[in-house]
Amino acid sequence: MTEHLTVGRVARMAGVSVRTLHHYDEIGLLRPVARTSAGHRAYSAGDVERLREVLAYRRLGFGLREIAALVDDPTSDAVAHLHRLRGLLLAQRDRATATIAAIDRELEARAMGISMTPEQHLRVSGAQLYESIGSAYPATRRTEPRIAARVWEALGDARTVLNVGAGTGSYEPVDRAVTAVEPSATMRTQRAVDAAPCVAASAENLPFADGAFDAALAFSTVHHWHDPIAGLREMRRVARRVVVFTHDASDTGWRQRFWLSRDYLPEVAGLVVGRPSVDELARAIGARIEPVLVPWDCADGFFEAYWRRPEAYLEEQVRRAVSVWTRVGPAAEQRAVRALRQDLSSGRWAERNRELTDLDAAELGLRLLVA
Ligand SMILES: C[S@@+](CC[C@H](N)C(=O)[O-])C[C@H]1O[C@@H](n2cnc3c(N)ncnc32)[C@H](O)[C@@H]1O
Repeated sequence: MTEHLTVGRVARMAGVSVRTLHHYDEIGLLRPVARTSAGHRAYSAGDVERLREVLAYRRLGFGLREIAALVDDPTSDAVAHLHRLRGLLLAQRDRATATIAAIDRELEARAMGISMTPEQHLRVSGAQLYESIGSAYPATRRTEPRIAARVWEALGDARTVLNVGAGTGSYEPVDRAVTAVEPSATMRTQRAVDAAPCVAASAENLPFADGAFDAALAFSTVHHWHDPIAGLREMRRVARRVVVFTHDASDTGWRQRFWLSRDYLPEVAGLVVGRPSVDELARAIGARIEPVLVPWDCADGFFEAYWRRPEAYLEEQVRRAVSVWTRVGPAAEQRAVRALRQDLSSGRWAERNRELTDLDAAELGLRLLVA
């Protein structure tokens, strides 16, 4: 006969209150398999296994309703849950490691009597994110030749080019003298051995003389800067031409245009709050704004790249190379992926996005600023 555990014993083992277990039962999240003859709850080994999964998701910040959907997902068995939890915990550990490193730096600064202003503290945050997620970057992030051609054309006849927020150097032209600036050590160490020389610095404080370069380039990085306007002015100061690839972060220009943010990940709205608009960015350097369409088979796996290949977003390695997914947090990420997976298998995604199948390139709010 199978042994059943009382609610008190399960509560003690799991480190939760009996009240919590009663609540989980009442809302249908964890219904014990049986009752004793006296009517008390009796938990089986399977119930305890489910509780372990529920508590693990809870610790990761998931809401009870989301957890119910996750643990009831018929396509996930115990092994799938363990893999998913492991991935989420690794991502959380990476974020914790980056935060600890930042705290250590601040403690060191304080011990030396140097007080950090909130601005200084925040200034490194974009780079810090890349310290933790940067190692996943090269798997899917590479030069998209059609977009690179637009960028290089915009650089005009510049012979010397400063690439700010250079990362692994995907958009560095090989036929000009390039100097790269990249604050994240993780990203710097992933640059090819023959890549352009790279300086550890931030856009907001470029260690170069006025007019030191013919052109300055910033590709897909401005949204990470603590102070984008200050960074752009720095680019303007050190170069006579400035080229910036970014996106129009307005609701209509970007978020509502792309089915992923519109239908599955509305949390991206929270990521752009307080950021200067694309018009403000352009005004800061006197730039003209040109739309850049995303080809259907875009080679660089940025957030919008797979607009006609929705299954790609179900892949962990695709998401890990795009900071948006880390920034929205694991609960929103898992919810979005689950909903997308369901809509792809039910045909709902195809139905809703029928017009995309005939497009070779899409206008998703990506912009080139040229000054
Ligand atoms: C999405 S990656 C783009 C990298 C590269 N431009 C590319 O297109 O492959 C963003 C990069 O911006 C860098 N970054 C973050 N904050 C920065 C700052 N304040 N100044 C310069 N770069 C920064 C990150 O470390 C990261 O390498």
